[in-house]
Amino acid sequence: MAVTALIGLQWGDEGKGKVVDAVSGSVDVVIRAQGGANAGHTVKVGDTTRVLHLVPSGMLYPDVVGLIGNGVVLDPFQLIAELDALASSGHVLDGRLWISDRAHLVLPYHKEMDEALELLRGGGAIGTTKRGIGPAYMDKAGRVGIRVGEIADPGALRERVIEQVEAKNRLFGALDVKLMDGAAVADAVVEATRRLAPMVTDTVSMANAAAEQGKEVLIEGAQGSLLDVDLGTYPYVTSSNCHLGGLLSGSGLPPRAIGRVVGVAKAYCTRVGAGPFPTEDNGEAGQQMRDKGHEYGSTTGRPRRCGWLDLVALRFAVRTNGVDEIALTKSDVLSGQPSIKVATSYVVDGEETTDLPAGVRFDGAEPCYAEFPGFDDDLAGVSTFDDLPGALRDVIAFVEEACGARVALVSTGPERDQTLHR
Ligand code: IMP
Repeated sequence: MAVTALIGLQWGDEGKGKVVDAVSGSVDVVIRAQGGANAGHTVKVGDTTRVLHLVPSGMLYPDVVGLIGNGVVLDPFQLIAELDALASSGHVLDGRLWISDRAHLVLPYHKEMDEALELLRGGGAIGTTKRGIGPAYMDKAGRVGIRVGEIADPGALRERVIEQVEAKNRLFGALDVKLMDGAAVADAVVEATRRLAPMVTDTVSMANAAAEQGKEVLIEGAQGSLLDVDLGTYPYVTSSNCHLGGLLSGSGLPPRAIGRVVGVAKAYCTRVGAGPFPTEDNGEAGQQMRDKGHEYGSTTGRPRRCGWLDLVALRFAVRTNGVDEIALTKSDVLSGQPSIKVATSYVVDGEETTDLPAGVRFDGAEPCYAEFPGFDDDLAGVSTFDDLPGALRDVIAFVEEACGARVALVSTGPERDQTLHR
């Protein structure tokens, strides 16, 4: 069995969609295993740019089978909107997209709760995507969630939704939030999920069978390691495990099935929402990254915070995921910076460390930088790794040395063919 796991190594938005797409030409099955419509995976094919939230990115190839695994929280309304948009541009997924009967539904009351909980947090708000992700995982952990398998019985599903809306209304009442109409919500959910019913199946069996038969299987991580609920910058994280462990539990594949772990990192760092970001640059350098890299959230449109590559955090993510190869994206965005900085350690409470501190001590972390000469070259026409500017290759060699993993792919632009394999 040789499954590839593809994982974001920063705070999400590393360009995973593009890398999945770049490696999916030879893939048979692509699996989403965690998160939900908080993800926004951007894929550019020809003149069309698509943002996929729930549909696995590799599915833009006509023969790739896609699985939405048991670890995903699935908003049925969002998935239907996405399927309709894809169908209108000729991407028909019927018969090759399958949804786990064990995945949990994200329903309208989860989104209301997401909003309400953010308001309650006041100055400590996380800056969530408001897609209902946290509340859906709360229901899952609290063992009151509604699983996708339950849509097979619309009558029982209707009752369950009404029961859950009534329970949430008790909370909404206490929080001074407008109450929801249980019957109306339940009717809409039954209607929407009826369309998805033919796609629901046991994806755990499908994933394992594909791996056992030696098919090329790719698990596509969502968000990034630093947003992982256990190992990320808690509490400014998402509610799922975005590390390798979450990709296994969320797909039902065993650890020994994984043959290769590809970590995706941008050549600089970005973050949307609140939380520690030691290498954030609020000056010209950060603004140039935002402008040149179009760093605006693909799910929420929010401007992303930008800053230098953080090797303390990257080394941690490479180590805790057991990354074999790094895919370095958006290297072209660094062109034009007078010099390029990468953080090699932090000073925390007066002491230098190369270990990533837990969230609470992270806030005061002061980065120490190594600085490299910049480059001005336009990377658009570069077709081999060896033709990259020397200044960029020096940074890449430094990253490899610091992280103990090879940079096997360098992305030099948004197009499919702007991807250098090494
Ligand atoms: P939630 O996942 O919507 O609860 O948001 C929690 C935090 O994770 C917020 O800071 C979000 O901006 C961030 N986040 C969630 N999904 C993504 C993603 O796909 N890319 C980047 N940031 C994300």
